Amino acid sequence: MDANKKLVANEAVKEIKDGMTVGLGSGSTVKFMLEALGERVKEGLEIVGVPTSHQTAKLAKELGIPLADFSNVDGIDIAIDGADEVDPHLNLLKGGGGYLVREKIVDILAKRLIIIVDETKIVDYLGTYSLPIEVVPFGWETTRSRIAEFGCAPQLRQKDGEVFISDNGNYLLDCDFKIIHDPAKLHDDLKALVGVVETGLFINMADVVMIGHAGMVDVLT
Ligand code: 5RP
Repeated sequence: MDANKKLVANEAVKEIKDGMTVGLGSGSTVKFMLEALGERVKEGLEIVGVPTSHQTAKLAKELGIPLADFSNVDGIDIAIDGADEVDPHLNLLKGGGGYLVREKIVDILAKRLIIIVDETKIVDYLGTYSLPIEVVPFGWETTRSRIAEFGCAPQLRQKDGEVFISDNGNYLLDCDFKIIHDPAKLHDDLKALVGVVETGLFINMADVVMIGHAGMVDVLT
């Protein structure tokens, strides 16, 4: 699986050109992408990166990738990110690592969003992977009850025995829908609830999905 992630990461990095502002996603596939990008920067590629998580920022710095302060960024030429699931319409379920809000802010700004995955992420319908929903801590129990009415049993995400706190100081509810027939509607309905900050459904955002499998890269557009 790692070989496929690395393959697809290397392929995506070829799309990055001199002078670009590059959105840097999060996750283990993106880690391979950062390593490949770091090599190209060492060879003289001049870009500036916009990280979507503390982890990505830390690794990018270690690899010598110059980073921009997001407050000073007007636009993003290209973003490269991972996903937990991709459906045939290129809708995505993301946020397994807990960085869905920052990822969505950066990815949506990108003129071109490239998603890099291995073949295990390709599904007919989103929802087998639990959908992360970021909620404000205040009154999270009532928000959870209202989310549950959509047909799942939201679980408060924990890490190392403690409540997981997002990069934005919020909680995450992981919601096992099993199958999401209309992700756009579900996203809109969930977003309409007071207390919901964002969902891990990335609707109609990906321009390209690169899939690594059996030593090859397939491209969906
Ligand atoms: C983090 C994400 C990741 O992109 C997603 O979880 C995929 O990660 P990986 O490449 O490790 O499978 O959305 O919030």
